[in-house]
Amino acid sequence: MTLTSSADELAAAAPEGTLVVGVTEVTHYTDRLFRFRTTRPSSFRFRSGEFVMIGLMIDGKPLYRAYSIASPAWAEELEFFSIKVPDGPLTSRLQNIRVGDGILMRKKPTGTLVNDALIPGKRLYMFSTGTGIAPFASLIRDPETYEKFEEVVLTHTCREVAELRYGEETVAATMDDPLIGEDYARKQLRHYMSVTREEYPFRGRITDLITSGKLFSDLGLPPLDPATDRAMICGSMEMLRDTKQLMIDAGLREGANNEPGEFVVERAFVG
Ligand code: A2P
Repeated sequence: MTLTSSADELAAAAPEGTLVVGVTEVTHYTDRLFRFRTTRPSSFRFRSGEFVMIGLMIDGKPLYRAYSIASPAWAEELEFFSIKVPDGPLTSRLQNIRVGDGILMRKKPTGTLVNDALIPGKRLYMFSTGTGIAPFASLIRDPETYEKFEEVVLTHTCREVAELRYGEETVAATMDDPLIGEDYARKQLRHYMSVTREEYPFRGRITDLITSGKLFSDLGLPPLDPATDRAMICGSMEMLRDTKQLMIDAGLREGANNEPGEFVVERAFVG
């Protein structure tokens, strides 16, 4: 049985009003994680950090899941970073995509992990676990992020060391990017990685590293302060709940698109 179809075949079968994007690159990082890139329709606009519904035709019906767009708003291609769930209705099939295959995409991106949802501050923390790094892969490649915040601290915590690789590669490419490397990222971006289930120089959940103060001492930064610090959080439901509570304890208030605040939250969607 063919699980995927070419962009042309899919365009013929796609529901009306849906975009079809063509896969241009696929990289498998571990048996749980992969990245893929697609063409970007010229009509498709989004703000860095937003997500969009993407999907496949399965048994003649479209099946969608929310995916953060990992590429920045200015990029010519779209990038996504996905988990592979063995029994996941979409990801068990999506993990088999190849260059030239088509993917369905709804037209309207949305989301709260956008610069507009935060009031200005000095330092922006981006707390992520697992595939929750995806919206930050977009935001660290957007000059607007560095124009709004003097310092950007991206934290990424995974179970295993190999799961950090997408983030490492993305940050390295960002540092070398002609548009944002020299002027912004090399001066303003810091990347802090920790691992919970294997040996690694930095160990532990981000929540424990915040609570113990180790995150701040490792980085040489002061504790969280609502006067200067802003935060964006993306990970599992449990990680969001616990990290959000630490922000509230530190005196930061949650924001939204229509009412900017000092931190914002978005779940890393899976399925
Ligand atoms: P742990 O290994 O201790 O469960 P997952 O792949 O399950 O989403 O986990 C990604 C990372 O998030 C893991 O390092 C995991 O740590 C961590 N994690 C899981 N739950 C929480 C939580 N409630 N708060 C902070 N980190 C969490």
